[in-house]
Amino acid sequence: MKSADIYFEFVDPTHISSYNPNYYYFKVFIFQKLIEVLNISSLSSKKIILGVSGSIASYKAIELLRLLISEGARVNVAMSINATKFITPLTFEALSGNSVYSQVFNSNTSLLMEHIQISKAADLLLIAPATAGIIGKVANGIVDDALSNLYVSYSGPTLVAPAMNDAMYANPAVKLNIVKMKDRGIQFIEPEHGELACGSIGQGRLAEPLNILETVKKILNSKKDFHGLRVLVTAGPTQESLDPVRFITNPSSGKMGYAVACAARDRGANVTLISGPCHLTVPAGLSFISCRTAIEMNQHVEKHFLDCNVLIMSAAVGDFAPIQIEKEKIKKKNKSILTLELLPTEDILKNIIRLKTKQFVVGFAAESENLTQSALEKLRNKDLDLIVANDISSPGVGFQSDSNQVTLIKRNEEIEKLPTLPKIEIADILLNVIRPSLSGFSSNS
Ligand code: CTP
Repeated sequence: MKSADIYFEFVDPTHISSYNPNYYYFKVFIFQKLIEVLNISSLSSKKIILGVSGSIASYKAIELLRLLISEGARVNVAMSINATKFITPLTFEALSGNSVYSQVFNSNTSLLMEHIQISKAADLLLIAPATAGIIGKVANGIVDDALSNLYVSYSGPTLVAPAMNDAMYANPAVKLNIVKMKDRGIQFIEPEHGELACGSIGQGRLAEPLNILETVKKILNSKKDFHGLRVLVTAGPTQESLDPVRFITNPSSGKMGYAVACAARDRGANVTLISGPCHLTVPAGLSFISCRTAIEMNQHVEKHFLDCNVLIMSAAVGDFAPIQIEKEKIKKKNKSILTLELLPTEDILKNIIRLKTKQFVVGFAAESENLTQSALEKLRNKDLDLIVANDISSPGVGFQSDSNQVTLIKRNEEIEKLPTLPKIEIADILLNVIRPSLSGFSSNS
């Protein structure tokens, strides 16, 4: 083959005029190849379902679709009934090049069970704009149109971009639904503050399509740097019974531990989450063990510790348990004072550290005074690789809250104070700090 033939096979750009449609495809082709070769974060080969619900912001979904496609994503659009009143399915069909799922019962039999096919293949479900209506349906499993049908047949990562009137967004029922969805691992991109379609000014505008695109890229291109590693996480409080109806516990919500477990899972780890009694939804994609007392938690940790690469003890384990549990309910009659006799529970971390071989062990320190000094003492005393200290007396962070302010102290006593952040972000930073110490571990070691 002559060099001139080769030259021609690869399409000489100087021979393609800008009026030639080939020129456009040539540019797209080169752009996509460049992205692939340079491994620039893009969405090529990603399959996304764009769920559109009925809002005045539905038109922005067109721009979003265009952006997703320009990044190389293959997009299937699913619409709620109300969305079809704002935009016709044909618009999305023409732009995406795929049929739009907007009717549960389609006369075309080849499209029957279409939502099952689409949802099986997808890497991400992006609901944008998400109205209060679709949020309510998703949060509570209500299925009455194409989009809500699709949601219940889908089990992968979900990103929701709400758009609604500010009073609706501030409504406690909507807020509660959002909390429910976040507990299930559904991610949100907050609506923006500004002038709304109804004329009022407040928080409710759909996030800018470019910002939504960035979040999509972040989710789909997240690193899998914990792939092959086994991460054992404890979370939540423990409960110690006094009698058949009463127990001693603490206000830990489990949110920090669940966030760590989900972040490790999302980064490819094989996660076992041992949880005390919490009101959180059991996260998908990990092994979940429920327990109640410190003794039970200790047994589960012992059972799984030798097999893990990382132990993260974020549980707020009760330090004391009654010497004996009364068989019958303790009566108040004839008692002006009730004295309880308590014994210390076993320190799970101290116990387990004796069995340590390769494991990286992280403890948490909940402190109300002398944060750094007390945490340092626990790090040394419990022989930990890392301790995460938080000040439980600070308002708005810690127990129950979605945010936390923590200080990380490594075995070499290097101290890093983090700002107040959502617990899911703290979880990711914690994993970033742990990961370099695991470089000696090969997959499944
Ligand atoms: N921990 C444990 N077993 C216990 C109590 C605590 O393994 N019986 C773990 C916690 O999960 C946490 C760390 O030890 O990772 C520190 O817990 P914290 O309650 O802050 O401290 P304690 O060791 O219990 O000491 P104190 O309550 O006196 O501060």
